[in-house]
This record gives sequence, C-alpha cells and structure tokens, in this order.
Amino acid sequence: MSSNSSSPQPVRYLSGVQPSGRLHLGNYFGAIRNHIRLQDQGECFYFIANYHSLTTVQNKEELSRYTFMAAADYLALGLDPSKALLFRQSDIPEVTELAWILSTVTGMGLLERAHSFKDKVARGITPTVGLFFYPVLMAADILIYQSDKVPVGQDQVQHIEMTRDMAGYFNNTFGRDVFKLPEGVLSEAPKVLGLTGGKMSKSDEASVLPIFGEPAEIKKKVKGIITDSKGVDEPKDPDESVICQLYKLIAKPEEYAELEQGFRKGGMGYGDAKKRLLAKLEKTFGGAMREKRKRLDEKPDEVEEVLIASARKARRTAAQTLEQVYEATGIPCSKIKKELSGGGGL
Ligand code: TRP
Repeated sequence: MSSNSSSPQPVRYLSGVQPSGRLHLGNYFGAIRNHIRLQDQGECFYFIANYHSLTTVQNKEELSRYTFMAAADYLALGLDPSKALLFRQSDIPEVTELAWILSTVTGMGLLERAHSFKDKVARGITPTVGLFFYPVLMAADILIYQSDKVPVGQDQVQHIEMTRDMAGYFNNTFGRDVFKLPEGVLSEAPKVLGLTGGKMSKSDEASVLPIFGEPAEIKKKVKGIITDSKGVDEPKDPDESVICQLYKLIAKPEEYAELEQGFRKGGMGYGDAKKRLLAKLEKTFGGAMREKRKRLDEKPDEVEEVLIASARKARRTAAQTLEQVYEATGIPCSKIKKELSGGGGL
C-alpha cells in the first residue's frame, strides 16, 4: 500500500473495444471481465474504438447507439471510473494525427501480412483503405499513451506485434526513443461458443447472447438453442453442447459437475439444462447489474460525464507524447494548432 515517491510507476494497461454491435458473452469472458479486474492492478486506459468501428458500421444512429451501449455496459459490469479511464477514441484527435505519422514509417508489406485484413478480404468484404490502415490506427491508440501492457484476445496478438514494429521503426528513423514498446497480455480467456455452435460473433446476430438483452429476449434465445433429439434419459456429450459450455462459464464448478454428470449418464434433458442456464444468466447479469444498466439508459448524461472526464485525462497524456513526436520529426506544434485545439486548456 506504500505510495511514496520511490515506489515504481504503476503498470499502464490499455485496451479498446469496438462498438460494432451489442456486447455479448464472448466479449465479456474474452476481454471485459479481465479489463475490469485489472482496474485494481494498475493504471487503466480503456476506450471505445468508434473510429475502428466506422470501417464496418456506417450508419449514424447505429454507431452512436453502440458507442453509448458499450460504455454503459462497462459501467454496469463494474468498471469504476474512479479507478480506470473509459473514453471514446474519437475524443482524442491526437490519435488519428499520430496514426498518419506512423504510417509514414510503416511498410506496406507489414500491413499486407495482417491476418484480420486477409480474413476479411477472404470473406468477400471489399476492403477500404481504412480497413487496411486499421493496424496503424490501433498502434497509435496504444503508443500515444505510452502503454505498458495491452490485454487483448488471441485475435489481436498480431496487431500488438505490429505495434511494436511500428514503434521501433519510428524510434529508429528519428533516432529517439519516443515510444515505449508495449507488451500484449493474453487473458486466460475461455472459448465462448455462439448459440449456433460456432464462435460467438457480433457479425452473426443469431450466434450472440447479449450481456444485457431484455429478459424475454435472452429467454427466447436460450430456448431456441438447437439441440439434437436425444431424450432425457439418453447420455449426451457435454463438450458438444452449447448449453453446457455456456453454463460452464458462469456456474460454480460443482454446479457444472452436476450438469455434466446428468449429460454423460443420462437423466438431464435439454429443457432442464436450458432452464439452469437461464437461471444462472439471470443471477450473474440480472439483479443489480441490470438495474444499473437500466438507470444509465435513463440517465445517459452520467455516461457522457464519465467519457468526457476520462478523455480529458487521456488527452493530456496523448498531447505530451505528440509533443515529443513533433520534436523528433520537425512537424511544428504551431501557434494556430495550439489555438484551435483548445488553447492548452486541457
Ligand atoms: N482491434 C480491437 C478489437 O477489435 C479493438 C482495438 C482498437 C484495440 N484499438 C485498440 C484493442 C488498441 C487494444 C488496443 O478488439
């Protein structure tokens, strides 16, 4: 608990979440839960990556609604704004400015090797320049706050490596160690099956179990999970069952053991298992969390205040880094630039 002047700098964690749909159980167990835990372990910078989502969500109402929802979900799930920052990516214009500067030291080849880009193209998405540029913006997100650790899911690991590469290119090109090289931290995240048996993914609505769906919707979705036609007494494979796998994530080990046994030996029907899953979901995300989430819907200003207060702090850090970037590159931080970005009143 000592915090005298000789104590080491706290570790700075940074992560972003895209507001490209309602946040779901896959997001929760894959990232959000871990982000919230880390608020007690270091200095946390979390943001809603609305510029990244703009590569896929190109509808004004949707983008604003999902941005609000992501913020409100984090707060309802336990993010404490007195411990961690939660802001909108777009409120820190220094980030997009840095992204351009980083792009000038980054080879095309590096971006061409990005899995996420290649996957999207393979799925038939016509790539925009923005989609191609995505990793550069992500690198700017990370580097501008001099982040130490970036807690992400497996699918983002390559982006962190690319970020380190870009930091290195910049530091070498300009002969100064402006950027800290961040480390990715893989949270021990369980695989979260989607309701349709594949991965739970925002881009496939049928696969998604939203964290804060209306109780009637959650019920309908769980009841609608497709099963085979095995009867109550027949043995079933719990590892193959979406119901069991979701239950395993939220139930106590002994509760899961009971369900698993019932599946393996027979005696546990799908209907009964679905009821247990629903009850657990209600216990975990219903009650106080749902109440809080509802309250935020009714008082969006509370969410906005958190986003603004956090952005104000994050922006100070971003502006300091950008000063060093200007120093290193010869791009001036001219009078007019200072005037228009708020006259230094941050
Ligand atoms: N690309 C990340 C995702 O889809 C979101 C993101 C944007 C991010 N910028 C970031 C994550 C910076 C970590 C750090 O999940």
